[in-house]
Amino acid sequence: HLPKKVTIIEVGPRDGLQNEKNNIPTDDKIAFIHKLKNAGIKEMELTSFVSPKWVPQMKDANEVIQACLDNTRNFVLAPNRKGIDRLFETNCKAVAVFVGVSETFNKKNINKSTRESMEELQPIIAELKQKNYFVRACISTSFYCPYEGKINEQEVSKLCSQFVQNGVDELSVADTIGMANPKEVFSLFSKLKAQLPDTLITGHFHDTRGMAIANVFAALQTGVDRFDTSAGGLGGCPFAPGATGNVATEDVVYMLEQMGIETGIDLSKLVEAVDIIRPHLTRSIESKYYRLQTQG
Ligand code: HMG
Ligand code: MG
Repeated sequence: HLPKKVTIIEVGPRDGLQNEKNNIPTDDKIAFIHKLKNAGIKEMELTSFVSPKWVPQMKDANEVIQACLDNTRNFVLAPNRKGIDRLFETNCKAVAVFVGVSETFNKKNINKSTRESMEELQPIIAELKQKNYFVRACISTSFYCPYEGKINEQEVSKLCSQFVQNGVDELSVADTIGMANPKEVFSLFSKLKAQLPDTLITGHFHDTRGMAIANVFAALQTGVDRFDTSAGGLGGCPFAPGATGNVATEDVVYMLEQMGIETGIDLSKLVEAVDIIRPHLTRSIESKYYRLQTQG
C-alpha cells in the first residue's frame, strides 16, 4: 500500500548548486528559493555552513538564510562545530548534519573518519535537541561508494541506529553516486522502516544511471513518504566523482500526482523556478518534465 501524501524536501539550492562552477549571484539564488516556496515547497535545504575553500558556491550562506527564512522548515547543512556555531548566529531552526558510511568518502568529503565525525556530532546533536532544533542526519554512500564500492546494509543500519540514539529527528538515506537499483532500495528501506519506526526516513537519490525515479517508487512501496529532490535535477557532491544530479523535483511531483499521491506542489511554478536559475548553470537541464514544458 502506498502513502496518500508525500513530503518533498527540496535540495536544489544546496545539493543542486554546491557543485556549480559559476559564481551564481546571491540575489538569483534567493529568487530561486522564493519561487520554490511559492510553488508549495514546505521543507528545503537552503544552503550549507561548510568551508568556503572547499565549497566556494556556499560562501553566501548567511545572506541566503537571512533573505529566505519563514515559517516553513528551512535546513542548513553543517558538518562540524564551526558550522553549528555559524548556525547559532542565525534564526534558522533546522539543521542537517552529514556523514558517510564509507570511511574513504567521509575523509574526502569532511576530512575525518566516520567515527571521528560521529564523536564530534554526538554532543552537538544533544545540544541542538536540548535547544529544540529539528535535526536531520544525511547518510551518504548508503549503497555504493565511489572509492570503496558496494556498502554493506548492516553498516548503514548501524550508523542510522547510532544517530537515532543520539536523538536525530530524521534520517536522509542517500545513494550519493546514483548506483543503487530498486531491489537494493526496497531491501534497505524495508529494514530501516522496521528497525526505526519512530524516526522520519527520507530517500535521497542521485540519478547518474537513470534509476532515481524507479528508486523513489521502490522506497514508496516500503512506506517511505519523504523524498529529497532537486528542481531541474541539479546536484552532485564535489567529493563524490561520478555523482550527477538528484532526481528532479518536477519529475517526482509529476509521477506522484499522476498516481493520486498528494504533494501540494504546483508544477508550473516549479518550471518557473528552474527558469530563474538556468542561465547561471554550466550544465543543461535533463529533467523530463521541464524539457517537455519548455521545448515542446
Ligand atoms: P578541514 O580543512 O579539515 O577543516 O575541512 P579544519 O577544521 O582544519 O579548518 C580549516 C579551515 O576551514 C579553517 O579556516 C576553519 O575555520 C574553516 P582557516 O583558519 O584556514 O581560515 N572551517 C569552516 N569554515 C566555514 N564553515 C565551517 C568550517 N569548518 C572549518 N563549517 C571541513 C573540514 C568539514 C570544513 C571541510 O572538509 C568541508 O567544508 N567539507 C564540506 C564538504 C561538503 O560541503 N560536501 C557537500 C555536502 S555533502 C553532500 O553533498 C552529500 C548529501 O547530498 C547526501 C548524498 O548525496 O550523499 C548530503
Ligand atoms: Mg546529495
